[in-house]
Amino acid sequence: MSLLISNGRIITASDDYVADVFCEDGTISAIGRNLPSHRFQADRTIDAAGKYVMPGGIDVHTHLDMPFGGTTSADDFESGTIAAAFGGTTSLVDFAIQYRGKTMRHALDDWMARASGKAVIDYGFHMILTELPDAGLGDMDTMVAAEGVTSFKLFMAYPGVFMVDDATIFKALRRTGDNGGLVCMHAENGGVIDVLVQEALRKGQTAPKYHALTRPARAEGEATGRAIALAELARVPIYIVHLSSADALEKVRQARDMGLPAYAETCPQYLFLSSDNYEEPGFDGAKYVMSPPLREKWHQDVLWRGLAKNDLQVISTDHCPFCMSEQKELGKNDFSKIPNGAPGIETRLTLVHHGGVRSGRISLNRFVDLCSTTPAKMFGLFPRKGTIAVGSDADLVVFDPNADRTLSVKTLHMRVDYNPYEGTPVKGAPSIVISRGSVIIEDGRFVGKKGAGRFLKRGPSLAPAGL
Ligand code: URP
Ligand code: ZN
Ligand code: ZN
Repeated sequence: MSLLISNGRIITASDDYVADVFCEDGTISAIGRNLPSHRFQADRTIDAAGKYVMPGGIDVHTHLDMPFGGTTSADDFESGTIAAAFGGTTSLVDFAIQYRGKTMRHALDDWMARASGKAVIDYGFHMILTELPDAGLGDMDTMVAAEGVTSFKLFMAYPGVFMVDDATIFKALRRTGDNGGLVCMHAENGGVIDVLVQEALRKGQTAPKYHALTRPARAEGEATGRAIALAELARVPIYIVHLSSADALEKVRQARDMGLPAYAETCPQYLFLSSDNYEEPGFDGAKYVMSPPLREKWHQDVLWRGLAKNDLQVISTDHCPFCMSEQKELGKNDFSKIPNGAPGIETRLTLVHHGGVRSGRISLNRFVDLCSTTPAKMFGLFPRKGTIAVGSDADLVVFDPNADRTLSVKTLHMRVDYNPYEGTPVKGAPSIVISRGSVIIEDGRFVGKKGAGRFLKRGPSLAPAGL
């Protein structure tokens, strides 16, 4: 099967030129101006004149079919990856959970079973560690060397569920120095937050907005600084997930200025939404209950500057959808029981293009870098994914920079009963999405195949070399 994408404006993290892209058997085999038709006869030609041709988006932070907060995230690997594809994402890295008393092997088998036969785009896994007995150290090595699970998420928050102590964090970090893995950190001070949550509940402060008021930005800044210090002591890189605040960004910036390999991602919710959303009427603030919480609006500008200056390297989604009905409403009378998370897997590229590129905050190249290229480099997928080059997988997005959309739960495809950006107008959207050379989205329809997504055995991160 061959595919020719002609006359598009090729945008990578570093290039911007008009050319044809020829794909054969799932990979890109030629790129050039006016590729001669007698040598490059394609089964199908797509005219991309006037459109951008970009590497498919890579979302390195999703939670599909994830048991959490007394329920399970509303998108499974079929509905979630279809929604991702509509949004121009062609690879994702989700999280398998190693529960206490269970092995990493068990966790990986569990999450493989959740994804295989369902995912419509390629997927990999990070491993969430909830404990690390000595026997687990060897399991970390096996995950990295044999299974292609080359990153581990640890939590400094959610006591009693996911939170681990500093000794466990330090042990895990040190081991990645030997095995080439990368630690991803949920950096919020869970102990402090727990005290604030219990205090609020005792005072009868049960509404969704107290979720945010009991998780101050300082608690994120403190944990971020501590995580980076532990990584410095262990002499390894660290990657901070879903960074939401100026306080936390300042810790990353300082570390990077000192030459430390500290990295961080932020997510569209922290760039486009704010703590004002918790003031929406009734129980609607629950739509935005996530951790870290939404911050005051002024943090948004600081995060955009961090993205432009490479203090932040990645934009992921932390897609973790729960319906208002039956799921978020578990916390109707107690904000601490509202399942944490929000949908976003489908809206990342269009939001970042609209609010970042069109508004002049980041360049087109930086857009591709943040949403595809650096995620691939950070998580051992580059150059197979994350760029447009001969030999790379033909994961491509034909992006129409002039398409007008209004974001709405009525037209988006995530399996959740609200959208945090309801009614937001955006300009620029994917028009055709290609996964390993096959068109999977066109004319506003999904035309791919359930189960066509393949497990991605990832290599080591390029983080130690500097990103
Ligand atoms: O609220 C969030 N972020 N839910 C997903 C779990 C996590 O911490 O990433
Ligand atoms: Zn987290
Ligand atoms: Zn998450």
